[in-house]
Amino acid sequence: DTRKVAVFVGSLRKDSFNRQLARALERLGEDRLEFDHVEIGGLPFYDQDFDEDYPAEGVALKQQVRAADAVLFVTPEYNRSVPGVLKNAIDLASRPYGDSAFAGLPAAVIGASPGAIGTAMAQQHLRNILSYLDMAVLPQPEAYLQFKDGLIDDEGRVTNQDTREFLEDFVDGFVEWIDRQRG
Ligand code: FNR
Repeated sequence: DTRKVAVFVGSLRKDSFNRQLARALERLGEDRLEFDHVEIGGLPFYDQDFDEDYPAEGVALKQQVRAADAVLFVTPEYNRSVPGVLKNAIDLASRPYGDSAFAGLPAAVIGASPGAIGTAMAQQHLRNILSYLDMAVLPQPEAYLQFKDGLIDDEGRVTNQDTREFLEDFVDGFVEWIDRQRG
């Protein structure tokens, strides 16, 4: 049994820790979750004038979200909040007003940073945004990851056993949450 998950990574950096984390989660959940990676780097900046004639990139983004059973956000923290590139993608998929692609979908939030608070502030801001957008966001487990070099190898394997078990719990919790929300 598989559940399709639209995955937003909030970093465009080639060697992004958060992209590595998304890959590790994909691997841990591969028997139960099918990841559909959303490309947010080439999207136009949301402009309210779009609402009269939505750009093709925005239409495609919304279709991709609507084709999913759930949405996963894997994000760094920029200046104690969500990176602008991710916020832009969310804004674009949420409009025109009343036609948000996110409404009613289950979601989960996770993030990694080299700093000790592990994106806690960014995730809190993101939860606020997603709850406004009427998404059902996984309450627990919360996952604030302090990223250390070599934590995830080139194949997306988590090298530290405690972290691997912690991320397994996160994936298990997300799968149960999706099933509960979808009835
Ligand atoms: C950061 N970084 C950062 N880290 C953090 O823990 N809290 C923060 O508020 C910020 N602020 C911030 C702002 C900007 C503009 C940059 C570029 C970076 C550091 C950040 O965690 C680090 O660069 C990560 O490597 C970013 O994640 P990716 O790109 O590796 O996924």
